[in-house]
Amino acid sequence: MTWLITGGAGYIGAHVARAMTGAGERVVVLDDLSTGIAERLGPDVPLVRGSTADRGLLDRVLAEHGVTGVVHLAAKKQVGESVEDPLLYYRENIGGLTVLLEAVAAAGVRRFLFSSSAAVYGVPDVEHITEDTPCAPINPYGETKLAGEWLVRAAGRAHGVSTACLRYFNVAGASEPRLSDTGTSNVVPMFFERLTRGEAPRVFGTDYPTPDGTCVRDYVHVDDLADAHLVVARGLLAREPGEDLTLNVGRGEGVSVRELAALVGEVTGRPAEPLAGPRRPGDAARAVASVERMTREFDWTARLGVREMVESAWAAWCLRHPQARAM
Ligand SMILES: NC(=O)c1ccc[n+]([C@@H]2O[C@H](COP(=O)([O-])OP(=O)(O)OC[C@H]3O[C@@H](n4cnc5c(N)ncnc54)[C@H](O)[C@@H]3O)[C@@H](O)[C@H]2O)c1
Repeated sequence: MTWLITGGAGYIGAHVARAMTGAGERVVVLDDLSTGIAERLGPDVPLVRGSTADRGLLDRVLAEHGVTGVVHLAAKKQVGESVEDPLLYYRENIGGLTVLLEAVAAAGVRRFLFSSSAAVYGVPDVEHITEDTPCAPINPYGETKLAGEWLVRAAGRAHGVSTACLRYFNVAGASEPRLSDTGTSNVVPMFFERLTRGEAPRVFGTDYPTPDGTCVRDYVHVDDLADAHLVVARGLLAREPGEDLTLNVGRGEGVSVRELAALVGEVTGRPAEPLAGPRRPGDAARAVASVERMTREFDWTARLGVREMVESAWAAWCLRHPQARAM
């Protein structure tokens, strides 16, 4: 098998490339480097610089590398930006996916994994979100992930491609600093950024109906997430053509923002008593995955805990921001 990993120079994609090559799979990465970093990839991973919307390039890469499966991670992923510029998000996330699926169907590729997100669920009021919890995204980013899933399943059924849509919950950590998340839109780097400036972490909303009043989320280590891709990718080999799977990937355990801030304080050795701010529109009180389906279908569960996520992310942060360690 040779796997095409789109968005493989990104934070999660580079971990997926590392997990797959480490397990002996052949991979090729297609990335336009709009937010990706070529240096995240090892010397054994070929990188083709270009867009998933470039049909000619896709046809060439699929043929030249003898691609037999695709892991599609390339996408825009900033919720706020998607509200400001929904056309960009539909063009990149849906337009790019449509062209990619056309190329996949034409080349006779039979396996396709799609990076989806817990954002497809919107703000459901349930203890654990199962894959059957109704989807009601509340921003264009989540809409493009849900519409992307529809597109993947429909194309898979029509063209005999077995597909899996992985709905990631909150991803954190790094397997090594070189691969880490350089953005600051997720909560862990957001806390680090404030601490590095000598400011207390900010918590948005302390009056939610949760045990300590702050939002509760399900965090999954990026190494575990990468391993889930490997397991599901290999599992697709045994599936019927056109069969589709939708799978939550999380730990199935809730951690409140206040608990996370306390852990960040312990790991960084900085006082991290959070500053209480107002609620942000669109934040669910609780978003925790039911992970039963991944366990049942693939005997897979996450191994790493939130402490490992924070420790590995902090180590990477300090390398990029030496002043943080010195403070
Ligand atoms: N990070 C999270 O917490 C999270 C949670 C749920 C889902 N996801 C999904 O996981 C995927 C990867 O996210 P990430 O956090 O690694 O983001 P990232 O921005 O680090 O990675 C995205 C990669 O795709 C590339 N890319 C974007 N558009 C492209 C295009 N049209 N053609 C080729 N390459 C393109 C970028 O250069 C980048 O390398 C995305 O689909 C995202 O929606 C991420």
